[in-house]
Amino acid sequence: MDNTIGNIDAANHVTGRSIYVDDIPVMEGMLYVKVFDSPIAHGRITSIDFSAAEQMEGIVKILSYKDIPGENQIGGIIPDEPLLADNEVHFRGQPILLIVAENEDAAEEAIKEIKIEIELLPVITDPRMAFAQGKLLSPSRKFVKGDVSESFAACKYIFEGTTESGGQEQLYLETQGAYAYPTEHDSVKIFSSTQGPTQVQRTVARVLGVGMNKVEVDVPRLGGGFGGKEDQASAWGAFAAMVAWILKRPAKCIPHRMEDMRMTGKRNPYSSDYKIGLDENLNIIAYEATFYQNGGAAADLSPAILERTLFHATNSYNIPHVFVTAHSCKTNLPPNTAFRGFGGPQGMFVIEAAIDHAAKKLNVEVDIIQRKNMIDNGDEFPYGQIVKECQAKNCWDEATDIYNIESVKKEVAWFNQQNGFYKKGISLMPVCFGISFTNTMMNQARALVHVYSDGTVGVSTGAVEMGQGVNSKMLQVAATCFGISPGKIKLETTNTTRVANTSPSAASSTADLNGKALLDACNQIKERLFSFIKTELTDNEDETIEIKNEVVYINDEASIFNWKNLIQQAFIKRINLSAKGHYATPIINFDKTIEKGHPFAYHVYGTALTEVTVDCLRGTYEVDSVKVVHDFGSSMNRAVDLGQCEGGIVQGIGWMTMEEVIYNEEGKLLSNALSTYKIPDIYSVPKILDIKFLNTDGNDMAIFKSKAVGEPPLMYGIGAYFAIRNAVLAFNPDADIAYNAPITPEKVLMGLYNPFSG
Ligand code: MTE
Ligand code: HPA
Ligand code: MOS
Repeated sequence: MDNTIGNIDAANHVTGRSIYVDDIPVMEGMLYVKVFDSPIAHGRITSIDFSAAEQMEGIVKILSYKDIPGENQIGGIIPDEPLLADNEVHFRGQPILLIVAENEDAAEEAIKEIKIEIELLPVITDPRMAFAQGKLLSPSRKFVKGDVSESFAACKYIFEGTTESGGQEQLYLETQGAYAYPTEHDSVKIFSSTQGPTQVQRTVARVLGVGMNKVEVDVPRLGGGFGGKEDQASAWGAFAAMVAWILKRPAKCIPHRMEDMRMTGKRNPYSSDYKIGLDENLNIIAYEATFYQNGGAAADLSPAILERTLFHATNSYNIPHVFVTAHSCKTNLPPNTAFRGFGGPQGMFVIEAAIDHAAKKLNVEVDIIQRKNMIDNGDEFPYGQIVKECQAKNCWDEATDIYNIESVKKEVAWFNQQNGFYKKGISLMPVCFGISFTNTMMNQARALVHVYSDGTVGVSTGAVEMGQGVNSKMLQVAATCFGISPGKIKLETTNTTRVANTSPSAASSTADLNGKALLDACNQIKERLFSFIKTELTDNEDETIEIKNEVVYINDEASIFNWKNLIQQAFIKRINLSAKGHYATPIINFDKTIEKGHPFAYHVYGTALTEVTVDCLRGTYEVDSVKVVHDFGSSMNRAVDLGQCEGGIVQGIGWMTMEEVIYNEEGKLLSNALSTYKIPDIYSVPKILDIKFLNTDGNDMAIFKSKAVGEPPLMYGIGAYFAIRNAVLAFNPDADIAYNAPITPEKVLMGLYNPFSG
């Protein structure tokens, strides 16, 4: 396989040629749609008057929930979310009206003239408070292994505590949005910036009250999704589609950055309790945790995210007795949603905090406890899956070996001894992440391949390109299978009429699922071509055939046939040159009634060593290095995979150290723009970012044995939290620093001097 292909979109990205929703040439008569959203986090709408606004110049119509032709419902997992608020509002930023205008300025002027009165109801922003009042979005879940109560009694050491992890804004460069126009037979076509074309299709059909066959969704590409467009793109698709369908004109609905930040959900913040028990040899015997997930005002994907938190509650550790519970709490915030890791990072932060707590209290080095309890082949995850092809210890041992952990520790100790106002800290962060949608049903995909009569190829799959490089991988699959140049192949947009019933591009599984479906389609065509050669061209059933570099080899010898003339002859003989491929991940299963099964096709492993320096006068810090050994399997595209690793790590560091989503008590987003919400920039990227590929065979369930890579690296970023915390403790050993992420410079400064013993 050609592993030098890199990312096929790179040149177009950097020269501004890539086409996003707002770049699509629009049709004459296009309308702009602006959303009027709730200024209050919880209340009853007592009056709303938009008559004056509707009369303003350039305003075509103002639509409310009463104008929705079908169902006013967009909830994916649980039907608990209206598209437009009816009589109550449940979060600040909740859409209430659609302002339809000839141009954007007119819509903005009209919004100012809308008069609304809302009777205030109590606002809850804290998940524990919501839980105390019985406000849950979905049934609570619990995973049990062994018997914790009995085993805690036998533990020599027990530690208990609380952790907090904050939200995170996806901050895709391209905001949400859609462009729609009416088509024949009361149908509609939508160009959407979504990870889930079928999700948009299903939602729009429901809102319009029509069959899914009347809704066509087309996705050229995304300027990033990061989970934020797995479910939440649907509302924007529905706004544009509803206007196009009702008014029979093209319509575009694309929020500005501040509107997007205010109205859409983010990574779920978690508040958690833990209890960890160890024996005298530092074996972790029992672990108990309770997770209070801040779900926001509607379920969205939170129930599924909650489940993945439980799946990853013990990260890379083998613990014989586990009891973990999770509650999805309903608050008056925008519905929180998927973000890279999908609840996994939130669960892993808690176990790492628990182990860190134990180590600090026992005065042993954290990595001794981590390594001692590392998972291995034959162990059982708390959800019943048996550990296979485990690379946890391999990654850890290779990382500590090649990055020479013992000498790093000495250098850090020496540095800290020599420097009064600069302190260094390090941490080791292992990751074990399960690959597959946790909902078994979603692990299926399809692909459509056309070989045109001139030998060029068109490929459609359900995969959405959002910067992660899946199109490059799809190209490699087709080119490798056919034995032809990637230059002969075009990757088509993701479209629901070409490939139906797609799962969203998510769960890091896009390349595996769609790549295997594509392989199936290509193989069908290839088999037809080979049997055509045998029966029509050479009349020899026993020969072996292969296509390499577009030349047909028969019994290992180059023949007179090449790809182009083969296709021409096959077409003349009326051979079918198109195929539809299908793939459903084998083996996986999960029984929710007992919370046991084999939910993941395989796991991805790795270990990161993070080193930071804290400025102990200012509370600022720098990440000196993140050095990783990562299990890519047999990487099919090293450039893309490396990019995913680097991007994921920086995003994880952002979540753990600087990105602070802040709502006030009235549920108003204070970190509502890039001036108040700090994301990592080039200066906060670790000065050294070293990623070593662990050499393994890979896994057959991964496409070409190249393991999924989209989400796992984000969790290496958790190491930055602990490294910074350790540096603070090097300055002030009595520092009282809660396990509360992100560890911002403010928190660092408080830790350095409060209580001050130095
Ligand atoms: N990388 C880029 N550049 N942009 C993205 O939006 N999304 C991440 C990850 N990497 C994302 C990304 C998330 S949340 C997931 S689940 C995976 O990519 C999805 O793509 P994959 O299944 O092809 O890995
Ligand atoms: N991961 C990501 N997205 C999802 C999942 C999952 O496990 N389940 C449903 N959507
Ligand atoms: Mo990714 S959070 O599964 O879109």
